[in-house]
Amino acid sequence: MDVGEPELRVLSESEYFTANELFRQALLLPATDEETWSAHTRAMMEPGRVLGTFVDGELAGTALSMTSSLAVPGGAAVPAAAVTGVAVRADATRQGLLTRMMRHQLDDAARRGEVVAMLHASEGRIYERFGYGVACRTRNVEIDRAQARLRDSVPRGGRVRLVTQERARDLLPELHRNCAADRAGRMYRPEGWWPGRAGVMKKNHVIAVHADDSGVDDGFAVYQSRGESTTVDVWDLVAANEIAASELWRFLLGIDLVNTVAGLGRPVDEPVEWWLADRRACRTTGVDDDLWVRLVDVPAALRARGYAHGAPLVLEVTDGFLPANAGRYLIGPDGVSTADESPQLTLDAAALAALYLGDQSASALAAAGLVQVHEPGALAVADELFQTRRAPWCGTGF
Ligand SMILES: CC(C)(COP(=O)(O)OP(=O)(O)OC[C@H]1O[C@@H](n2cnc3c(N)ncnc32)[C@H](O)[C@@H]1OP(=O)(O)O)[C@@H](O)C(=O)NCCC(=O)NCCS
Repeated sequence: MDVGEPELRVLSESEYFTANELFRQALLLPATDEETWSAHTRAMMEPGRVLGTFVDGELAGTALSMTSSLAVPGGAAVPAAAVTGVAVRADATRQGLLTRMMRHQLDDAARRGEVVAMLHASEGRIYERFGYGVACRTRNVEIDRAQARLRDSVPRGGRVRLVTQERARDLLPELHRNCAADRAGRMYRPEGWWPGRAGVMKKNHVIAVHADDSGVDDGFAVYQSRGESTTVDVWDLVAANEIAASELWRFLLGIDLVNTVAGLGRPVDEPVEWWLADRRACRTTGVDDDLWVRLVDVPAALRARGYAHGAPLVLEVTDGFLPANAGRYLIGPDGVSTADESPQLTLDAAALAALYLGDQSASALAAAGLVQVHEPGALAVADELFQTRRAPWCGTGF
């Protein structure tokens, strides 16, 4: 049965609970209890940013975004819409409801001056049609504690201490902000994110904080034992520098009774194997897409990031979903400007997202037919310009 003509509008606060229930049902999650809702989940819903689509007067679809920012190569951060809570009721899918909400949400982000929108996708085939591309990936690792010894060469310093969940609520937001800018893909965790996070924290979540030799906190890890087993799952490990990162891992690998330490959603280039005397103590159990990014304002996004040395390049961007974004850009180490010349490479918005933070090279995308090459040698120029020192990583679920 076809649904009637839908009505899309911003939801009022009294409608948030119903929207959240719709979302949880669509994601096959259990309903929220009242306490979790009022103390935690509700905080993620910012007035004016929660959308609903109504069919025959009933809420049939919803999507929300939070005010955030995203670190880009070169050290700057751009205003960003963190999109989540996306769902369409099972009896109203494949009727275009999501497409309407996506268009409304991206127009809204543009009006707010947000340069990118970003999300984590439940499935791989939903968002590319709206111009989102996989901009960073994560790796899951398992480390056999009995086999794992850190090399003597791994730098040492500071001290790790455990803090209560209550103390962590005060400490972690600022600590994360201080750690956040060193890597492209890192996002500002919106204000409402932290109460939401506290809502999913279990009693047995333990928080370890690292302080440097002068006593300044510079990293933390949130972990929990997996059921009754001797495996510890590390949900969140963020550090401002290499010493804090390796010292937090050293701490985790030193916890008594633990057999396996599982790092979930880690940067793909985290040098765990290089820290270990026996690199085979660390096993990669999966590499997954992490953050999907949609460049809402292509010229502003291109201008915001830094470029490595190399010759300038004329890049043509096509954009089927937001045609106003299409254009030609002269990109070089000295900056970005619009260009009239013939393009050397052409790609669409989703492919540009994969290139933007440095996760993929133009050559890799061209090998999949996602970059059209008009001039021999242009791929090598693009590879050089867009390369980054570290792999991008978001590390924040939302
Ligand atoms: C994913 C979801 C929001 C899609 O909503 P929808 O209203 O059915 O999407 P639309 O009708 O606007 O679909 C637009 C296009 O995307 C395609 N599409 C949508 N969801 C898809 C999916 N999960 N897999 C493959 N294709 C999908 C549609 O077939 C349609 O293609 P067409 O234009 O060629 O016909 C909905 O299926 C849902 O709520 N799923 C469960 C919850 C979920 O996964 N939410 C996303 C959280 S990140």
